[in-house]
Amino acid sequence: MRILKNILVTGGSGFIGSNFIHFLLNGADGFEGRIINVDALTYAGNPLSLADIEEQFGTAAGTAQRYCFEHGNICDRPFIEGIFKKYDIDTVVHFAAESHVDRSIHGPEAFVKTNVMGTFTLLDTARDFWQSEKDALFHHISTDEVYGSLGDTGRFTEETPYDPRSPYSASKAASDHLAMAYSHTYGLPLTLSNCSNNYGPRQFPEKLIPLSILNILEGKELPVYGDGKNIRDWVYVEDHNRAVWTVMRQGKAGEKYNIGGENEWENIRLLYALIGIVSRKAGLDAEKVRASIAFVKDRPGHDRRYAIDCSKIKKELAWKQEVNFEEGLSRTVDWYLSNSGWVNSVRSGEYRRWMEQNYGRR
Ligand code: NAD
Ligand code: DAU
Repeated sequence: MRILKNILVTGGSGFIGSNFIHFLLNGADGFEGRIINVDALTYAGNPLSLADIEEQFGTAAGTAQRYCFEHGNICDRPFIEGIFKKYDIDTVVHFAAESHVDRSIHGPEAFVKTNVMGTFTLLDTARDFWQSEKDALFHHISTDEVYGSLGDTGRFTEETPYDPRSPYSASKAASDHLAMAYSHTYGLPLTLSNCSNNYGPRQFPEKLIPLSILNILEGKELPVYGDGKNIRDWVYVEDHNRAVWTVMRQGKAGEKYNIGGENEWENIRLLYALIGIVSRKAGLDAEKVRASIAFVKDRPGHDRRYAIDCSKIKKELAWKQEVNFEEGLSRTVDWYLSNSGWVNSVRSGEYRRWMEQNYGRR
C-alpha cells in the first residue's frame, strides 16, 4: 500500500476534483497528508466548491494546514516546477482538463492546449523532479470516450483499441498515450484510469444531469439530442473517487484501470426518471414537466453507446460501486435544491455568454 503525502491535485476546483478533495480530507481511508490544488479557475472551476474545505483545512488552520490552493495554469512550466519544489510533491492526481464535448466541437484549441500540452507539462516536470524517486506516483484521470462508440452489445475493456471521435476524446486519448509513454520510456511511476459518465454534487450545469435538474426547476425546455436513445453508463462521483484513491494506493505502476457504474441508461429514459424525482421533491406536476422535453438537433459525431467493463479493478483491487442510481440521483437533486448560491455563481459571466452565443434561448 502506497503512503501518499504531498498530493498535487490538478483541476481540484472542478466537478470531480472538488469532490475528490472533499472525499480525501473528510476521512478517506489512510490519508493523513496534504493537498495542493492547482487550478486555473476557468468557467468550470469554482472556489465556492471548496469554501468549507478552505475554512477547515486552509490557511485558517495555521500550522495544521492540509489544504493549499494555487491559482495557475498547468501549461505554465515555471509555475508547475515552482509548485513541485515549494511543496515537495510526491503524488500527482491529474484531473484538470477541458471536459465538455459540445465545447470541443465549437472550439477545439483550448482542448489541445490544456489536455495535451498541459498533461505533457505535468508529466515532464514530474520526470525531472522525481528522477529515480521510488515512492512517487502520477495518476492520470481519463475517460471511456477514448474507446469510441459501441453498438448494441459489448463493453469497453482495458484492451479495447482507442478510437476517439470528438476533439475532446481525441485530446484525452493523446494525453493517455503521453502518460503511458512516460511510464514505458522513462519509468515514470504512473497509473491511469478511464471512467464512464459521472454525476453528483458540484457538476457544472452544462452536462446533461445538472442542466436538466435546473431546467426542470426553472420551467425551461429540456433539450434532448437526436432521438434520445444514446446510452451512457452512469457512476456516482464518490464511487469514482473511491476507485481513483484505491488505484493510487494499490494499483500497479504502468497499469490502467477501467471504472464504471455498470448502469446503462438511454438519455430519454434517464430524463423521465429525473423528472419523476425532481417533481416529487419540488412539488411539480411531472406530466406537465414532461411536455417541456424538446428533441433538438443532434450533437455532430454523437457517440451512440458507452459501457464499461470494470471487472479488473473489482477483481484485482476489490473496489465496487456503493451508491445505486436512485439514491445517487436523489442525493444530487437534494444538493442542487439546497445550493442555489453555488448555481448562481457558476452561471454568471462567461458561461452565460457562451450559452447565449451558441444556444440562443437556452
Ligand atoms: P470540470 O470541467 O468540471 O473541471 C475541470 C477543472 O480543471 C476546472 O476546475 C478548471 O478550472 C480546471 N482547468 C481547466 N483547464 C485548466 C488549466 N489549463 N490549468 C489548470 N486548471 C485547469 O471537469 P470534470 O468533469 O471534473 O472532469 C475532471 C477530469 O475527469 C477530466 O480529466 C475529465 O476528462 C475526466 N472525466 C470526466 C468525466 C465526467 O463525467 N465528468 C468522466 C470520466 C473522466
Ligand atoms: O463518458 C465520460 C464523459 O462523460 C466525460 O469524459 C466527459 O468529460 C463528460 O462531459 C461526459 O461526456 P458526455 O458527452 O457523455 O456528457 P454530457 O452530459 O454532455 O451528455 C450526456 C448525454 O446526454 C450525451 O449522449 C449527450 C446528451 N445530451 C447532453 C446535453 C448537455 C442531451 O441529450 N442534451 C443535452 O442538453
